[in-house]
Amino acid sequence: MVMNKRIGFIGCGKIAQIRHIPEFAASQRADIAGYFNPTASRAEQMSAKYGGKVYSSVEEMLADPSVDAVVVSLANSAHAPVTIAALKAGKDVLCEKPMATTISECEDMMKAAEESGRLLLIAQNQRLAPAHVKAKELIDGGAIGKVISFRTTFGHSGPENWSIRPGLDTWFFRKDVAAMGVMADLGIHKTDLIQYLLDCNVVGVSAKLSTLDKKGPDGLPIGVDDNALCIYRMGNGAVGTMTASWTYYGREDNSTVVYGSEGMVRIYDSPSSPLQLIRREGTVVDIDTEAIQTNDNQTFSGVADAFLDALYSRVSGVMGAEKVIPAMRAVFAAIESSSSGKWIDIPENA
Ligand SMILES: NC(=O)c1ccc[n+]([C@@H]2O[C@H](COP(=O)([O-])OP(=O)(O)OC[C@H]3O[C@@H](n4cnc5c(N)ncnc54)[C@H](O)[C@@H]3O)[C@@H](O)[C@H]2O)c1
Repeated sequence: MVMNKRIGFIGCGKIAQIRHIPEFAASQRADIAGYFNPTASRAEQMSAKYGGKVYSSVEEMLADPSVDAVVVSLANSAHAPVTIAALKAGKDVLCEKPMATTISECEDMMKAAEESGRLLLIAQNQRLAPAHVKAKELIDGGAIGKVISFRTTFGHSGPENWSIRPGLDTWFFRKDVAAMGVMADLGIHKTDLIQYLLDCNVVGVSAKLSTLDKKGPDGLPIGVDDNALCIYRMGNGAVGTMTASWTYYGREDNSTVVYGSEGMVRIYDSPSSPLQLIRREGTVVDIDTEAIQTNDNQTFSGVADAFLDALYSRVSGVMGAEKVIPAMRAVFAAIESSSSGKWIDIPENA
């Protein structure tokens, strides 16, 4: 008989509460070992709702031999230290995006996974969205010919409305805790996505990151970027734009259009269909697939299943950290480009 995997949740904020904990709780292949959260009452609420124990510290959870794997959903600055400690304690790890706050932290996480022989996955859930999977099939199958260009964007009204502790004093706006703003919060999703869709890396970037609108409780601009505009050159020669914003008020935009020599695919871009193929001569094909997840419409993400698949097969799969590191390099290169005003090549991604 195959034993269920026992999962510990480190961080019981919004994404853990609305995505990870319910998706693992619904799985026939997982049991909930328990929870740690810096504010214990949130862990207690989860324990009362889904079962499992409340741990008083990360160390206590990591020392529990009955915990097979952990899900790290803390604020950004905690991703690397907690993930490395978990890997060293022999746990497989699913860590939230952004993977870490510096490239050396990302590399240290990879090294800890290699040395411990444990799995490290990063929750780049956009790779699992049905419209993205289908669009990749179309592009890979040659439906739009040679990819020439793209535009991809992710924007909403900002994390101060989303966080489990909403308000202008949110950690998302604090450089010491978040490290980066919307570029790493939403931009990492679309940077990783375009690499996934085109099956090649960002090899050069010019970017402008700005703090245009968001203000903290003191009325001063927040310490991180709220808008990011990037031009990406890809390994296959395509050039396109990636934009991310916390100031798309009124409606979320999660769209991607990939333009090729024989037509285009429009993902979450047409009001009439989540995925469209438009052929060069103008024929429009609406492709039946699921609408995008939004902050207000959390459909099943598939992240828990993908992690459990990895735990049983011992193959990290589509969200393996080694596949995500090139996108993190692009994020850090975009930040460097914005501060230096220069085009930045990324030779490691070539
Ligand atoms: N994959 C996705 O689509 C997605 C969506 C939302 C959030 N996330 C990521 O998940 C992580 C948690 O975000 P959230 O939306 O649950 O935020 P949240 O504000 O709702 O929860 C924040 C979590 O971090 C903890 N925390 C707060 N301040 C901290 C600090 N100084 N140091 C360490 N931990 C601290 C809180 O206790 C809580 O567990 C973030 O890294 C975020 O980028 C990913």
